[in-house]
Amino acid sequence: MKTLVTGAFGLVGSRFVELYPHPQDLLTPGLGEFDLAHPGEYLAKENPDVVLNFAAYTNVSEAEKQRGDQNGPCWQINVEGTKNLVAALLANTRLIHISTNYVFSGSAADPGPYAADHQPETNSQLLTWYGYSKAEAERVVGDRGTVVRLISPIRAKYPAKLDYLRKPLDLFNQGKLYPLFTDQQISLTYIDEACLALQKIIDQNLSGVFHMSCPDTTTPYEIITYLLQKLGKDISGVQKSSVDPKRYPKFGGLKPSFDFSPWKQVVDKLIEQGIATS
Ligand SMILES: NC(=O)c1ccc[n+]([C@@H]2O[C@H](COP(=O)([O-])OP(=O)(O)OC[C@H]3O[C@@H](n4cnc5c(N)ncnc54)[C@H](OP(=O)(O)O)[C@@H]3O)[C@@H](O)[C@H]2O)c1
Repeated sequence: MKTLVTGAFGLVGSRFVELYPHPQDLLTPGLGEFDLAHPGEYLAKENPDVVLNFAAYTNVSEAEKQRGDQNGPCWQINVEGTKNLVAALLANTRLIHISTNYVFSGSAADPGPYAADHQPETNSQLLTWYGYSKAEAERVVGDRGTVVRLISPIRAKYPAKLDYLRKPLDLFNQGKLYPLFTDQQISLTYIDEACLALQKIIDQNLSGVFHMSCPDTTTPYEIITYLLQKLGKDISGVQKSSVDPKRYPKFGGLKPSFDFSPWKQVVDKLIEQGIATS
């Protein structure tokens, strides 16, 4: 079974490629060879059985500066790019589209943790611009593909980008850690387990909408201080703060569709794997 992995060099896609047991079945083109702006020629040439679409514009804060701009890169890649991909799919090609918890508001009116059948928010004002673009992309995919939502995906090592745990760890090591929210409900995706679940979706031809997350929620203060203490760091200087629900989702988290490890076990595994900031 030939699988095209888009975004194969990104934080999550590159780990999927590393862990996939049949690497000879994967197509992993770089941006020069495959671009969501014009995916048709590549798809017609390679005719993959499955497209696993990790490719996206993922810079949430830069995306916010583009709010309302449908000509900006966030909308063009995430929404128009997904439209181009869906339009270019050959009839026999399965699409597995990667999405995000940011399609939900995390507000008190519509709180998480969200089950996979929870409907993404339609009001752009209740989401980040990135989240709204990903929610629109899910609506573009509709019944044509399988949707897999991740939440703050984490792994032990990835030099190109710091993730949800390695960024504060890096700042702590520089003495620059920001105060941590004690009242924001979050969950996280252990990328290694998500990659195994994605293999299952591919191999067993599963379809629908799936959530990949640890089964329990935590807070930024709880999980980051747990990591720091397990690494033998002195957390007495770590400051606490409260989330401003006008700026950040307060009641987040995803309910997993598969059997995933609780967050403390995930942190322990990342430490065993030698969690690194570069
Ligand atoms: N990281 C998170 O916190 C998070 C949370 C939940 C869900 N997700 C979702 O998980 C998926 C993977 O995220 P990630 O963190 O691994 O992202 P990432 O590290 O930013 O990687 C994204 C990949 O997409 C590629 N790409 C960008 N524009 C493209 C285009 N026009 N055509 C083809 N490829 C393009 C990038 O290539 P270049 O590097 O060459 O630009 C990069 O390889 C995304 O769908 C994201 O929305 C991420």
